[in-house]
Amino acid sequence: MCGIFGYIGNQQATNLLINGLRRLEYRGYDSSGIAILNSKISHTKCIGRVANLESVLPENMDGNCGIAHTRWATHGGVTKENAHPHLSEDGTVAIIHNGIIENSRALRNWLIAEGVTLQSETDSEVLAHLIHRARCDGLSPLDSVRRALRQTRGTWGLCALFEDEQMIVCARNGSPLVIGVGDGESFVASDPHALTPHTQRVIFLEDGDLAVLTAGGVQTSRLDGDSSDATVTTIDQSWGVADIGDFPHFMLKEIHEQPESLRQCISGRTVLSEGNGKLGGLDLSAKKLLEISHIRLIGCGTALHACQVGRLAIEHMARVPTQSHVASEFRYNNPVISPAALYLAVSQSGETADTLSAVKEIQLKGGTVMGVINVVGSSIARQCGRGVYIHSGPEQAVASTKAFSNMVASLTIFSLQIGRARSLSKRDGKQVVKALNAIPNQVEKYLEDSGPIMEAVQAVKDAPHVLFLGRGASAPVAREGALKLMEVAYIPCLAYPAGEMKHGPIALLEEGSPVVVICPNDKFRAKTLSNVQECKARGAKIILIHDEGDDEAAIEADIAIAVPATHSVISPLLTVVPLQLLAYHVAVELGRDVDKPRNLAKSVTVE
Ligand code: G6P
Repeated sequence: MCGIFGYIGNQQATNLLINGLRRLEYRGYDSSGIAILNSKISHTKCIGRVANLESVLPENMDGNCGIAHTRWATHGGVTKENAHPHLSEDGTVAIIHNGIIENSRALRNWLIAEGVTLQSETDSEVLAHLIHRARCDGLSPLDSVRRALRQTRGTWGLCALFEDEQMIVCARNGSPLVIGVGDGESFVASDPHALTPHTQRVIFLEDGDLAVLTAGGVQTSRLDGDSSDATVTTIDQSWGVADIGDFPHFMLKEIHEQPESLRQCISGRTVLSEGNGKLGGLDLSAKKLLEISHIRLIGCGTALHACQVGRLAIEHMARVPTQSHVASEFRYNNPVISPAALYLAVSQSGETADTLSAVKEIQLKGGTVMGVINVVGSSIARQCGRGVYIHSGPEQAVASTKAFSNMVASLTIFSLQIGRARSLSKRDGKQVVKALNAIPNQVEKYLEDSGPIMEAVQAVKDAPHVLFLGRGASAPVAREGALKLMEVAYIPCLAYPAGEMKHGPIALLEEGSPVVVICPNDKFRAKTLSNVQECKARGAKIILIHDEGDDEAAIEADIAIAVPATHSVISPLLTVVPLQLLAYHVAVELGRDVDKPRNLAKSVTVE
């Protein structure tokens, strides 16, 4: 989603800013722009990729201070006018903004009534004019931003540039902003990943923080004028290193990284002799785990599907009532929050606005919420304070793959830990631990020979729609497979619990309709195979994901893809992999922009 990069120091800013935007490209965007301060503010913007912006930059765009932005359209179409930066009418103030100004309609009307000519359809533009008006009233740059934000309702990650002032004023509320502290230079970005090539010393702004960046340093304060608690922390440089290597796309690379990232996640977190999990970051004693009344898992997109798998694992092993929730719905349905319950916020980026809002709602109502997060130091991780890092390493492709697997693995380890504190026998726990520890090698083995995926690609690529079916833990896997194919190949997909298929989606089936069925050899297998028969009877073409050696199931399929067999609770860690590959190869075959699919964003920082 929208990305911010800013620089002030002794170097020429333009190239630094363009390279900064490049590191933010993976988040998803549709236009970009840059503003550079010299004696005046000059700016350029365009629709499309950062490469387009680079190609239209004027040659003499020199200056040691500037701000740059990638925009993912919310208010107003994808046009050059709507791209950021936005400038005041006289061009003396330029802003870039992530987030949404909720009262922008009223502010726009008021500004128009005051005689201001608006240049764009965006909510963000009002900020440039409000800040400029405050400057005209004699306020300092910092106080101008402060006054403008007090007139504003919504979320912001904001940077403002002022003619004749060697500084960038930044503000955060609900949209992440990280300051990079350099030697004689300062940086700002919406994502720490963009800062790591320059500095590891960062300040994560909190909601309500403002910062004034100069070449000499950073001054932070609060919106209400108080001093801020923001401090400098050091981040891990390795986080930023995500090289595509010999792979044609990050998505394929990340699918192939799963064995290694699963090892990273699982290693040292299970105790075979006890059949137990060991997640130190939760800081929950066996006694506390026993007292938990129920559990709610919250996430969006792929993380939601991991929650749905985790829910089943927790109920299976710990016999504690567990629900998974769409984060964007959770907060606004006035949820009943119990201090006796445990809430888990699951997110790869740790920045998803819907999930972050749900976390805040839970905390406001006195609940305990912990993060299951990939990005270390991200907003949700910091807001929760406690939790589990899933250790996938950087995930660049918009379509999440290895993070799903590590979320499921982390939630499985959590299920073991709470299970062993409650009803799970040591013997049963040991079986899961053994199976979990074998998974990385099994995924590796599958990836060495992924079966007739390319045959499945041919069956799917021209289909008007694809139906995905599964039962039990395979129902969320079906949803994840459908999401992946829809996201990267733009084919309409529907996922249903296999038994529910006959209550509606069966009406879609006709001769040749592709149906992807996830059918490991678990207690649901016979029932799922009956549903396969029902599909076949209507002419459907069956692509079946089944356990290696299960020839009885394979024979029912038009295209049978075998994965190594494992414990039924963690079968998603294997059955999801062919679905990721299917989506990837269909997208490539159809010439899609695999790593940056249209309209999607990696990190969705607006609600
Ligand atoms: C976006 C991405 C999805 C991702 C979802 C949740 O929609 O395109 O791939 O699953 O956000 O992201 P999170 O970072 O919270 O896991």
